[in-house]
Amino acid sequence: MTNREQEFPALYERLKPQCQNIIARYEVSRSALLPLIHLFQEHEGYTSAQAMRAVSEMLDLSLAVVESTVSFYTLFFRRPVGKYVLQVCRGLACTLNGAEDIMAYFREKLRISHLQTTDDGTFSYEEVECLAACDRATCMQVNLEFVYDVTPEMIDTMIEAMRAGTYAVKPMVQTEKPPATWILNQDSQVADGGKSAGALDQVDPNNAGGLDKDGVIMVDRILAQEWRFTGRTKERLATEPDVVDILENGAAH
Ligand code: FES
Repeated sequence: MTNREQEFPALYERLKPQCQNIIARYEVSRSALLPLIHLFQEHEGYTSAQAMRAVSEMLDLSLAVVESTVSFYTLFFRRPVGKYVLQVCRGLACTLNGAEDIMAYFREKLRISHLQTTDDGTFSYEEVECLAACDRATCMQVNLEFVYDVTPEMIDTMIEAMRAGTYAVKPMVQTEKPPATWILNQDSQVADGGKSAGALDQVDPNNAGGLDKDGVIMVDRILAQEWRFTGRTKERLATEPDVVDILENGAAH
């Protein structure tokens, strides 16, 4: 067990009152999902499996829901990252304004590429989709703080200040040495004999027609949740031939 893992129960106890305050702010506890993940990430430097489990228990959500939220957003990291996470926008407005030069400059300067962390654990680098600051293209985020109108000259100054520990944005907490990338590759996990924790007790986690751990067909579980059948979700579900079949004929036919 790593030091971080050993220390997690104490961290959890320490953060519990804060978590409860956050949950109390919302009418529906599920709405506290993102703030709680942020809170644990702030203290651990990334969103650990223990943190995801703790959040799922606090909010009474399945672990798969928490995991899929964490893996969806580029705001969250499932493995340790560098002290400075540099996320450069490669969206259309930024690309038209020179993002390709910015990205090439970062790669050359740091000698790493997309989704990689430098050997000394100082920098993690990622090229991300539109950061919604197109009017200030080219833009990027450093540890989730915006930097606008980025130029190669700015990059030199920025990297120098980060190396010197004088950059305005504070470094990420590092509770573990970061590996070469923070991305979990599903194939390599399977090859290692492991898989996503939320999928561990599922018989066939990628098959909506498969059984969950209680022996219920997963799509039936979805169909039993009425809130899913509003707006876009309903439209999307209704185009799936299997779902249409079940809706019209029932699951057991
Ligand atoms: S394209 Fe870069 S912020 Fe939108």
